[in-house]
Amino acid sequence: MPEKLSFEPPRGMRDFYPADMAWRNRVFDAFRAAGEAAGFQPYDACVVENYDLLARKSGEEVGDQIYHFFDKSERHIALRPEMTPTLARMVAQRQKELSFPLKWTTIAQCFRYERMTKGRKREHYQWNVDIIGEESVMAEVEVVGAAVDALRRMGLSQSDFKVHVSSRRFLGSLLEKSGIPPERHAQVFLALDKRGKMPDEEIGAMLRDGGLSPAEVDAAFAVMDVKSYEGCAELEELFALARTAGFADALVFDISVIRGLSYYTGIVFECFDSKGEFRAIFGGGRYDNLLGAIGGEQATAVGLGFGDVVVTELLKSRLGEDAAVEKKGYAVGFMFDGQRDAAIAFAAALRRRGQCVNLSLSAQKPKKFFSRASQGGAAFAAFIGPDDVEAGEVRVKDLATGEETKEALAR
Ligand code: HAM
Repeated sequence: MPEKLSFEPPRGMRDFYPADMAWRNRVFDAFRAAGEAAGFQPYDACVVENYDLLARKSGEEVGDQIYHFFDKSERHIALRPEMTPTLARMVAQRQKELSFPLKWTTIAQCFRYERMTKGRKREHYQWNVDIIGEESVMAEVEVVGAAVDALRRMGLSQSDFKVHVSSRRFLGSLLEKSGIPPERHAQVFLALDKRGKMPDEEIGAMLRDGGLSPAEVDAAFAVMDVKSYEGCAELEELFALARTAGFADALVFDISVIRGLSYYTGIVFECFDSKGEFRAIFGGGRYDNLLGAIGGEQATAVGLGFGDVVVTELLKSRLGEDAAVEKKGYAVGFMFDGQRDAAIAFAAALRRRGQCVNLSLSAQKPKKFFSRASQGGAAFAAFIGPDDVEAGEVRVKDLATGEETKEALAR
């Protein structure tokens, strides 16, 4: 007897059964439509990336979470944990030919060997929208606006989510005013980003280990109480332009948004559900140094990553588990083999008219046909018996209302 294999996928990886796929398609459709509506061009790359591009030693999380291996030629290879380094590499490779600012979008499968919690898997799809080469806050407006549009297209309303916005530059200036020198800021950002995820005492210890004096640690925590973005020109402009664009109500200033990735330099943002039940829905910001850091020419950039896991949990909880299936098209069945030709011809005629048809594969009793049809994805059902073939027409039932109309059978 062969050893019985587990039917579970590898830990943290996901199977998509049809009901899961219906959700994934609904979410991806909104991503694609919002990207297209805002003029972002689709791009893609292989999920396997050079390890050296991804390995950063700045103490941030994603670097530690990489799945990596050596291929048969001893090349150090990794599964990408995010798309941004790959985007930077692709842009750097053609930086002379591409015309800037460029607006690119993709839905990238990403892998992170991280601790599994609610909303965090070891594999997820992440919609990315990025603008490279635009200095003005218009880039943030277009990127955040596209993500808000995607949430609306999925069926969520303004009251379901908020985009929490801050600026690392602004936070840096506040830290500097409190006496913490700029060379310590990167480390302070990474430590303060852990707030809410680990106790403040541990964060304090991290900061002291990094060389901050007790007074500086207190000052860093005090800055986290700032409630107003007054005096930060880029945030003032972002809020004003978002008003014109129609999504200012979706934004809130929140100094505690710092982001765990070290490459952000300016405005940063993270979206949460309004009740605070789920992990971040999307996150992003401005990153000025990544192109330069990987060896390209320096270029400013703004972008975000929007995962499929959290938003699907949120959609299910707000709209219902079954809300993803949109009933459409026809189920067509037949009573005996004698009506099989008529059913095939009827289905073919409907399909030529652009309708989706789920044609029964064998003769069925009417009860069984209608019970399966009403559980399936069709909006209408037509069941062909001997009398229908004789009469040359079939009754078509609207499965939602029970209403019946007649349609001619193809001859
Ligand atoms: P991130 O905050 O690491 O940013 O991830 C962005 C989003 O991806 C999260 O808000 C979440 O929706 C989703 N996500 C991340 N990790 C997981 C996971 N393990 N399971 C499920 N969902 C996850 C970035 O990755 C940046 N590269 C985004 C970016 C693009 N910044 C500029 N351009």
